[in-house]
Amino acid sequence: MKGERSKEEREPPAFFVRPMTVADLGAVTAIESENPSPWTAGQLASERDQDTGWQFVAEVGASGLVCGFVCGRSCGGEGELLKISVALEHRRQGIAAQLVEYTLCYLGEQGVDRCFLELRAANLPAFALYERFGFRRVGLRKNYYASPLEDAILMEKKILVGA
Ligand SMILES: CC(C)(COP(=O)(O)OP(=O)(O)OC[C@H]1O[C@@H](n2cnc3c(N)ncnc32)[C@H](O)[C@@H]1OP(=O)(O)O)[C@@H](O)C(=O)NCCC(=O)NCCS
Repeated sequence: MKGERSKEEREPPAFFVRPMTVADLGAVTAIESENPSPWTAGQLASERDQDTGWQFVAEVGASGLVCGFVCGRSCGGEGELLKISVALEHRRQGIAAQLVEYTLCYLGEQGVDRCFLELRAANLPAFALYERFGFRRVGLRKNYYASPLEDAILMEKKILVGA
């Protein structure tokens, strides 16, 4: 009907993804601190300063609350996803999926045609997430992680550039 707003216009998206700013570092550090072997605030800040780095956060619509982040680097047509994390109380709501989708679009626009990552072999939620987005297992690094000692699985996704 004329003048009637669509559902999307009436309801802001539950979450949206945007580039990470310096002001987000506190929230991002808090989210990261919920994970085993977390990066420190200093490591996260220095990652944000990397010339070849990219970092995005998911924000709860209209609240300004940062509930997840992803970061990585890319160089010479290859990308590497280094970290993705969602706050405990916001997991299983599709936020990591939105972060990965945004990242893959961004990398494709930048002309990056392959993205790599590695993860702990026992991290089944992350493995399922990456598989859902077409990452395929391409290698194994024995005893790569410490505390606890664990293998690393290497995954790769080919990206449609400019899509
Ligand atoms: C892995 C992680 C980022 C997933 O975040 P999330 O926002 O809960 O994930 P989503 O809700 O977007 O789920 C997307 C897909 O991931 C997979 N997934 C996520 N959590 C899962 C779980 N607990 N068990 C199985 N699969 C899971 C599923 O395939 C899911 O798709 P589906 O909902 O259609 O089944 C989150 O569990 C996390 O922050 N873990 C700690 C940090 C970490 O391990 N990061 C990865 C290594 S750096």
